[in-house]
Amino acid sequence: MRTTRGKPTYERIVLGDSKIGEAMAEALALEEQVDRYAHRFHTYPAGLHPDAARDLLQLFEGERVLDPFCGGGTVPVEVRAAGRIALGQDLSTIALRVARARTASPDEAFLTRLRSRARKLTAIAREAREDPPEQVYQGVHEWYAPHALWELESIRQGISESEEDLKPLLKALFSSILIKVSWRRSDTSGGRERHHRPAGTTAILFHKKTRELARHLAAYRDAIPEGTPEAKLRIGDARHLRLEDPVQLILTSPPYPGTYDYLPLQHLRRIWFMEDRHDEAHEIGSRRSWRAGGKQARRDWAGASAEWTTSAAAALEPGGHLVVVIGDGLTPAGPIDSSQVTEQAARVAGLENVARASLERPDHARGTSRWEHVFAFRKPLS
Ligand SMILES: C[S@@+](CC[C@H](N)C(=O)[O-])C[C@H]1O[C@@H](n2cnc3c(N)ncnc32)[C@H](O)[C@@H]1O
Repeated sequence: MRTTRGKPTYERIVLGDSKIGEAMAEALALEEQVDRYAHRFHTYPAGLHPDAARDLLQLFEGERVLDPFCGGGTVPVEVRAAGRIALGQDLSTIALRVARARTASPDEAFLTRLRSRARKLTAIAREAREDPPEQVYQGVHEWYAPHALWELESIRQGISESEEDLKPLLKALFSSILIKVSWRRSDTSGGRERHHRPAGTTAILFHKKTRELARHLAAYRDAIPEGTPEAKLRIGDARHLRLEDPVQLILTSPPYPGTYDYLPLQHLRRIWFMEDRHDEAHEIGSRRSWRAGGKQARRDWAGASAEWTTSAAAALEPGGHLVVVIGDGLTPAGPIDSSQVTEQAARVAGLENVARASLERPDHARGTSRWEHVFAFRKPLS
């Protein structure tokens, strides 16, 4: 086993432009925990490593940078920090709420109002004794101790009565504690683990999270070069990008095939926010699609990959780059190599290969190894 800077690696393949390929391999190998900006304020499955996003961005020019699978917003956060124009899209409303909160750079007066509102909501929640409305209660009560349920409902209610401009950040904060105070094992596991936490801890956690987020956003605001525009993030399918102007760079990490069910994983949060689930059918490469049948799932995923890559290519300026971080799949039907489908999708979209870096990593939990790749493609000048 060899070690690049960072994660332990068995094998490493670099193809194409060796300078870019080697630098991409280094970025992909990073694994140290980062506490910069609001990167850690809200868990999000399969988030890109913030330093990898930062280093990959530095390798490619271009002012307008898009991430069509922006998830919790790692790429847009780093794009703004670099003084560039951040654009993002994702199918998940939960992801967008997190990404918008992480890319915000409010002034001090706003943050003071945010802290003060959260303090008030916390004090009220500590005395709360009211269950959520029936439609929420039915879906969530099995996952929480009664006092956690009362405190959460009080905060939810308090947010709905807060000033309009504070609501997005308050909702993101609420979202950030929903799994932590539940009996669900983690964001990516539906397992149940009952534990005892004293009454009041849910409300206190909300307050603590608010103070932390305010501190991180203040540091972020001060780090962003003057004149950098706000991030433009929207809900939507990556196969149908609708941009007003072309972009010079797309840096993204689409779902690894058969690895997660991104939208259903958020089901507790979606019930608390009273959202419907009509969008789940549009999720690309979901784990559940492989459960229904390997061959069809592979065909659908390959087709969807070609579609989003074609849409991305159309959004690029000639000479612009598409950089894709993707891992091989761990599907119920066995492992899936992502590299062939990704390269085929780029060919279909009329993009040229620039470089590729692939790292083989040990997967101790399954006693095997797994490849992760980063590809750089370019849109031809004519
Ligand atoms: C690997 S995650 C991205 C993580 C992100 N880079 C981050 O750091 O948080 C893949 C994302 O693709 C989104 N997704 C799945 N199907 C989609 C589609 N058809 N259009 C847009 N986004 C989709 C999921 O909601 C998920 O957030």
